[in-house]
Amino acid sequence: MGAIFSELLDGLRAYLGTLDSAVARDAVRRIDWDMPDRPLEPRPLACLRHLARAAELAPPVAKPLARLLASHRDEFHWGQTYAEADFGRHFIDNYGWLELFGTRGHFANEAVAGGFLVLGPGVVYPDHHHVAEEIYVPLTGGTEWRMGEGGFHVRAAGEVIRHASNVNHAMRTGCEPLLALYVWRGGPLAQKSTVTGTVAQGEA
Ligand SMILES: [Fe+2]
Repeated sequence: MGAIFSELLDGLRAYLGTLDSAVARDAVRRIDWDMPDRPLEPRPLACLRHLARAAELAPPVAKPLARLLASHRDEFHWGQTYAEADFGRHFIDNYGWLELFGTRGHFANEAVAGGFLVLGPGVVYPDHHHVAEEIYVPLTGGTEWRMGEGGFHVRAAGEVIRHASNVNHAMRTGCEPLLALYVWRGGPLAQKSTVTGTVAQGEA
């Protein structure tokens, strides 16, 4: 097993530890970090072309983690939950996630999943929800996030965004990409989200 996977896991944990957030502290405490590794083939995606820019945009505290991800991007097993039929070609070419740990990730964990989400510029990820509780920490700012029936709000890098079980949420990027860390727990960890919105939210 390449050292890069452990390095990324250590980096993710360390970054969460820098956040002045009870939600983040609780997440770190509740994860059993002693996880067996799982060999996975590299699986690059088109969206990885945005990682170099994301690493440039990341603030100093998040930059080492973003750079690690960007410089080793082709070694990880990236995934997509959606297909072109869901949200169109532009979305698929600008979307992907890396499950670093979880039921499918580079490290096996049946209780919690965690990793990274990439969205390219000009992408709308419409309203969707899932049973698992989700924590997002954007490593790049500028993306608009929406939760429940609220409006879209720009979130800065380092903000901790918590989506409770089955609460709708959506994101839309502006002229820069989004790189975000995520943690899923308390529900099926490989469930496809229920989508209730459309990409037309981006025109609102
Ligand atoms: Fe979500």
